[in-house]
Amino acid sequence: MDISNLKIPEHVSIIMDGNGRWAKKRGMPRTFGHKKGAEVVMDICEDADALGIKYLTIYAFSTENWSRPSAEVKALMILFDKYLKICYDKAMKNNMRVRIIGDKTALAPALQESIRRLEEDTAEFDGFHLQIAINYGSRNEMIRAIRKLVRDVEDKKIMPEEIDEEQYSSYLDTAGIPDPDLMIRTSGEQRLSNYLMWQHAYSEFYFTDTPWPDFNRQELIRAIEAYNDRDRRYGKVKEV
Ligand code: FPP
Repeated sequence: MDISNLKIPEHVSIIMDGNGRWAKKRGMPRTFGHKKGAEVVMDICEDADALGIKYLTIYAFSTENWSRPSAEVKALMILFDKYLKICYDKAMKNNMRVRIIGDKTALAPALQESIRRLEEDTAEFDGFHLQIAINYGSRNEMIRAIRKLVRDVEDKKIMPEEIDEEQYSSYLDTAGIPDPDLMIRTSGEQRLSNYLMWQHAYSEFYFTDTPWPDFNRQELIRAIEAYNDRDRRYGKVKEV
């Protein structure tokens, strides 16, 4: 596949959907799908980096996902902890910065500790940036941002008149990270599901029927090709 002429998006965000259905189709428990999904995450990180994508943000667990059966939630949390440890070694070898977005305070102390170590020890790396959304919801993120902002206004650190889009963005979990250029959702659904609603204001959306466990480099390139076919205007007039 000749990709030399493709414009590579700087930041790709992904909603990794379809693990459960993929597993069920094979007569396996949903957690089998999540396990395969985690392996795909590792491959896609490498592919994204090799293609020249600088930032990848993946939706691993939403604020709504706590309402899943407790055994599934538990299995996912164990998987995250395992993955973050593998991720640590990969990050060290590959100059990769890893950040977790979402409300970390609700996570188990051991998982919070893995996150703290991973974020602190990779903070200076800038080869590739991976953001993993765990216990993330856009509305929750905005509320947490507003609380911090109001406190800073009360403490006179910032004046209400100074609040603009840039200031507000700096209070979000994604502070300092450019907005996604391309958002990919796998497995057929076509909605945002409370994912980066502020940050996706001008992103191109790409939906595929492929379930996340079957997603691969070729699928990623297909999404980038579709992105290349779009006419990104940011509200401007089309140039002719
Ligand atoms: C959506 O599929 C997937 C999730 C809620 C979990 C995402 C987790 C992974 C891809 C694996 C682990 C990730 C990391 C970072 C290690 P679904 O279960 O909603 O599938 P369904 O729509 O078919 O039920």
